[in-house]
Amino acid sequence: MSSQLLREALTLDRYPRSNTYDQQWVVDNLMGPHPLWSAESLLQAMTLRPGMRVLDLGCGTALTSIFLAREYEVDVWATDLWVDPTENWQRVQNAGAADRVHPIQSDARKLPFAHGFFDAVVSIGAYNYFGTGVDYLPYLAEFVRPNGTLGIITPGIRTAPDFSPPPYVADRWGPDLCTWLPPDWWRHLWERTGLVTVETADFVPNGWADWLRWLQACAQVGRGYEPDEHLLEADQGKLLGLTRVVARLN
Ligand SMILES: C[S@@+](CC[C@H](N)C(=O)[O-])C[C@H]1O[C@@H](n2cnc3c(N)ncnc32)[C@H](O)[C@@H]1O
Repeated sequence: MSSQLLREALTLDRYPRSNTYDQQWVVDNLMGPHPLWSAESLLQAMTLRPGMRVLDLGCGTALTSIFLAREYEVDVWATDLWVDPTENWQRVQNAGAADRVHPIQSDARKLPFAHGFFDAVVSIGAYNYFGTGVDYLPYLAEFVRPNGTLGIITPGIRTAPDFSPPPYVADRWGPDLCTWLPPDWWRHLWERTGLVTVETADFVPNGWADWLRWLQACAQVGRGYEPDEHLLEADQGKLLGLTRVVARLN
């Protein structure tokens, strides 16, 4: 598939900001669902103002950090465990975002930041790796100022965790799918801490279809992930999608 066809396949009216980025660059640095579409969907439910300090937690290759810095004029601490921060720094500089994006390597459970430092935390396709425990939100909230915001997008499922999955889900079942949880599951986990008020807990509109479109386009250039492509194709949005949760600290 040529760059032109890739751009056409990955240009959608509902993501006007993402459309202005080189889609080959996004594909070359992929780690999950289209990260800029996810960030843009999250920012439809969450406000960032210029100059805010934002923690991008589990930023992977820092594409979302670059996107947030450029689009919303915020300062971003691009924090990730697996990806070398030197590689991220190179990407950040190449993208002209060196004045606003600060790459850090850290485990989300051992953050090297001052308490109350951040105005907002954003986490795209990563929070389900480390944030499903009851004690995680209280830990993370320590790094956010009073009234600050938290916003996540993670793969999700509409039904409660103890359901009997249909065969196409059962065939793909494993420790990772166990962490694909419903919006209300996250709402309950967060609100029962008494520390936050959840403002949004839903599925990203068209999230599953856009995720499938992304996987199909990636497959055309040898970067697909067949297990999830087949899963989303079989499901057709009945159970699976992208969970979006936004909360404000009390
Ligand atoms: C599926 S990738 C998503 C990356 C990126 N946000 C994106 O959307 O392309 C999940 C990311 O979570 C990060 N991660 C997993 N466990 C982590 C932990 N305990 N602390 C910090 N990051 C973690 C990994 O390093 C990885 O980059």
